[in-house]
Amino acid sequence: MKVKKAVFPVAGLGTRFIPATKAMAKEMLPVVDKPIIQYAVEEAFAAGIEQIIFVTGRGKKALEDHFDRSVEIESNLEAKGKTELLKQIQELVPRTGTIVYTRQHQPRGLGHAIWCARDIVGDEPFAVLLADDMIKTEGKPVLSEMVEQFDRFRASIAAVMEVDKSQTDKYGILDAGPLEDKIVRVNDMIEKPAPEEAPSNLAIVGRYILTPKIWDHLGKKQKGAGGEIQLTDAMRALLKEQPIFGYKFEGTRFDCGDKAGFQMANLAYALERPELKDKLLDFIKSGCFNIIDFRSCSSQKIAILEPGRLFANQ
Ligand code: G1P
Repeated sequence: MKVKKAVFPVAGLGTRFIPATKAMAKEMLPVVDKPIIQYAVEEAFAAGIEQIIFVTGRGKKALEDHFDRSVEIESNLEAKGKTELLKQIQELVPRTGTIVYTRQHQPRGLGHAIWCARDIVGDEPFAVLLADDMIKTEGKPVLSEMVEQFDRFRASIAAVMEVDKSQTDKYGILDAGPLEDKIVRVNDMIEKPAPEEAPSNLAIVGRYILTPKIWDHLGKKQKGAGGEIQLTDAMRALLKEQPIFGYKFEGTRFDCGDKAGFQMANLAYALERPELKDKLLDFIKSGCFNIIDFRSCSSQKIAILEPGRLFANQ
């Protein structure tokens, strides 16, 4: 069965971005000039997803409005003859029913947020996208690649990448063995282990394709790490019945739930815009910064200026 539905858990409060997120959904923070959520929605549609299910919470009205018509803005742009902008905002509005909303009434963890979409998804495989995780690739977007892999294996699959061992307590971590060039077969997984308890440094990032069997395990609502109902725990239980694979994507992942990661995403995506690139590079090269190191990050070279502050160079 084709992967046609994607669940977007977007109920989080965005406390790490207060005060910016006091009255605004964190998913609406812009990377260059598009809200974070729009990148993930575009990735889902590009992968052939036909229906998106937003699991929202209170205070997410802007998110719903973003994918709805704005008659006021449209007539204003029309009157001013700004046809290109008009086209852009009209294209944002998918056919009615393509995006549906349900609510998670209480923050009880990622596993619970996904479970809130069970009646809408039903008995078919589905994708999960964590919009905070932006993944920049040279080729196809990660979800498109994963859909292809799902079509081969017909089993659940999560995007994975290697992280620094000191960071394992921020991720779901796999115990996995190599299968193919970009595919690992999962033996076990654990949510946010301390570095000394982590079975590896292979971490799950926010793209999943799950078989509907996962509902049985999410439905048990067992609390795990941080007292929350974790998707990783439900997947771990699923492993006893079905194989699960990890997809080692090629690309750069930006953690936009983190202030530094968010700034890095803005810089990396802005440097791809012809109208912004030269201005930004001139600013960076103007000598205001003290470059202490260079690292390669996808196609860009990143200059490490001071701990935690990165700027790209040509
Ligand atoms: C969630 C998942 C975790 C995964 C991570 C990727 O954690 O629970 O397994 O590795 O997303 O970003 P969160 O970042 O919501 O704490």
